[in-house]
Amino acid sequence: MYQLELSDFTRDEFLRDYWQQKPVVIRGGFSDFQDPLSADELAGLATMEQVESRLVSFVNGQWQAEFGPFQSFEHLAEKNWSLVVQAVDHFCQPAAKLIEPFRFVPNWRLDDLMVCFATPGGGVGPHIDLYDVFICQGSGKRHWRVGDRGEHREFAAHEALLHVDPFEAIIDVELHPGDILYIPPGFPHEGITLETSMSFSVGFRTQSRMNLFSALADHLIDRDIANEMIEDPGRPLSSAPGEINNADYQLIKQQFTQVLADDALMRAFIGSHLSQAKHELDRCEEDIGGYTRGDVSQILKQATEPGAVQPVYNLQRLGGLRAFYFSDMLASGVCYINGEPHPFDVGIAPVIKLLCDQVTLSPQELTSWCENEHFIDFITEQINAGYWYFA
Ligand code: SIN
Ligand code: CO
Repeated sequence: MYQLELSDFTRDEFLRDYWQQKPVVIRGGFSDFQDPLSADELAGLATMEQVESRLVSFVNGQWQAEFGPFQSFEHLAEKNWSLVVQAVDHFCQPAAKLIEPFRFVPNWRLDDLMVCFATPGGGVGPHIDLYDVFICQGSGKRHWRVGDRGEHREFAAHEALLHVDPFEAIIDVELHPGDILYIPPGFPHEGITLETSMSFSVGFRTQSRMNLFSALADHLIDRDIANEMIEDPGRPLSSAPGEINNADYQLIKQQFTQVLADDALMRAFIGSHLSQAKHELDRCEEDIGGYTRGDVSQILKQATEPGAVQPVYNLQRLGGLRAFYFSDMLASGVCYINGEPHPFDVGIAPVIKLLCDQVTLSPQELTSWCENEHFIDFITEQINAGYWYFA
């Protein structure tokens, strides 16, 4: 388990003074940091079809970028390249544990764990991200420069690489294993590897108005809802046919505001939309559909019996699976898992909350639920969907 150690501020102070506002270096944020996966394991992930990866190199003054999957890495030189793999939390449970220390920001804001292996001189070049990121330095050393927010010209250094013009650094540091660099959106930055390095970026996402409106439109279309037409009986005589008068403008705007004012609709949309995984989930095919309610109930009961013999299983949420609730919807028996509403009996609301709040549930936390048939029904369905498993 990774423990985040903050010596210069508390989590509250971090959120008040830095989050979304300014970059900061957290020296020794993790003591005795061990890489949760090796460079070879990362390279293995980058050979998989369902994993998003990129090789970025700087050769003879030219930036190059290539998307995976990759067959081999043997042709690469010893310097000036990096391999970046997205959503490693979906595919590697030990690496997913690195997200846990950052759960003081809620899960809906989280995006993924990106891992970068880089040889000396390697990096992805100076750029700006739209997202908050905690870059945790694993093995090796990297030199990081971060500039201030402002007008920075962006340009395509390669068709897959958006870079910024050179910038003046407000942070200029060497990161060593266990150090963390937090960068909010909009600050130009660049990491150049000094010694072959592994770095682990816990990234967050937010939503633009444009994306939200576009996703809302998809939600309405997919469900064929909010299809009420504009109605205008009793319309007064129009003397200016070319005009959209103020009363009509208000009538049209109401089509939007009525959707936005419908809390049931909006919560269903927000819950479904935010719980969608951005990357493919790595569901264990062997487990899908393989459990009866009896099996699940027995595994849970065995584990919770006093003096239970090993192995005792934890109930583990699949890496990258997104599961959310609204407090006031818990009382009406709906939560949102992987893009869909999931109804449940309100009697099991407390354990649904646990399933959404915690990635791992110990047998002790489930003791009072393992005889509850509503819970057994619910969790058997989830296990058979590959969303939770016994680990
Ligand atoms: C990297 O590790 O080189 C990319 C991380 C980032 O700058 O966002
Ligand atoms: Co970046």
